[in-house]
Amino acid sequence: MKHLLKMLDLTTEEIIDLLNLADQLKYELKHGIEHYHLRGKTLGMIFEKSSTRTRVSFETGMYQLGGHALFLSSKDLQIGRGEAVQDTARVLSRYLDGIMIRTFEQSEVEALVEYGSIPIINGLTDFSHPCQILADLMTIREYKGTLEGLKMCFIGDGNNMMNSLIVGCLKTGMQVAVACPEGYRPPQVILDFAAEYGDKFFMTDKLMEAAVDADVVITDVWTSMGQEEERAAREAAFAGYQINAELMAKAHSDALVLHCLPAHRGEEITADVFEAHAAEIFDEAENRLHAQKAVLVRTMKG
Ligand code: CP
Ligand code: NVA
Repeated sequence: MKHLLKMLDLTTEEIIDLLNLADQLKYELKHGIEHYHLRGKTLGMIFEKSSTRTRVSFETGMYQLGGHALFLSSKDLQIGRGEAVQDTARVLSRYLDGIMIRTFEQSEVEALVEYGSIPIINGLTDFSHPCQILADLMTIREYKGTLEGLKMCFIGDGNNMMNSLIVGCLKTGMQVAVACPEGYRPPQVILDFAAEYGDKFFMTDKLMEAAVDADVVITDVWTSMGQEEERAAREAAFAGYQINAELMAKAHSDALVLHCLPAHRGEEITADVFEAHAAEIFDEAENRLHAQKAVLVRTMKG
């Protein structure tokens, strides 16, 4: 695997290989077994948006792999003053062994690949959040022992999280039901992909229908980073699109609840459901570290 740009690019075999390696790296970390796969290598981390989990887990992950990570805020880079991404990519390729980037446009990530010569990892764009989905799949498999045949229900916005979960879950043999208001559906490229899976994919604006017999229920914020000016319209559109006790009663009684975080209690999820499922939600957050270390090894080890 050369890069990690979006879930659409990964084969089922690549996803399973990453999850297996993530499990192994987690086991080794918990048992004090060193795994310096990236000794002497440097990852640059470009952030054009805020982050807690992505920044800390990538930086810690590189350290645990024997390498080094550099935090590069776009506010301080010349990119923030208009230097072309094509030039930044070519310069950074001379210093670094890999780049993780969190930005707005998916095309900016693809441009780094086109002009740079080192592995590029998508740490979230408006379109995709592949690192999060790998951690989510890892968490589901840890709790349920398998992915094949399980039903994932996503409630909310057709955003980077919903898009990437639809693809990741379908590719790993899960059924997918999504509930979103009209006007906030996933982009056509994702719907076209999902259509290939026939009745394994179901989209509705009725959230109670989507949640029936779900094994895992997932949501995300109503207003993503960069959409702050639309907040009022979004709050109106998403009112009621919430994971709460009534919705969970439709799912299997042992259903997991996941949230990529940060969460807004009282909006997309109630405080009581969040706290009842805190164990898996924070395992999910921890698994960002292990899943991303697997991605770093597969893309940067050479
Ligand atoms: N879930 C996630 O990507 O968190 P951060 O925005 O804190 O990195
Ligand atoms: N959809 C959210 C995810 C944050 C991790 C956002 O893009 O802001």
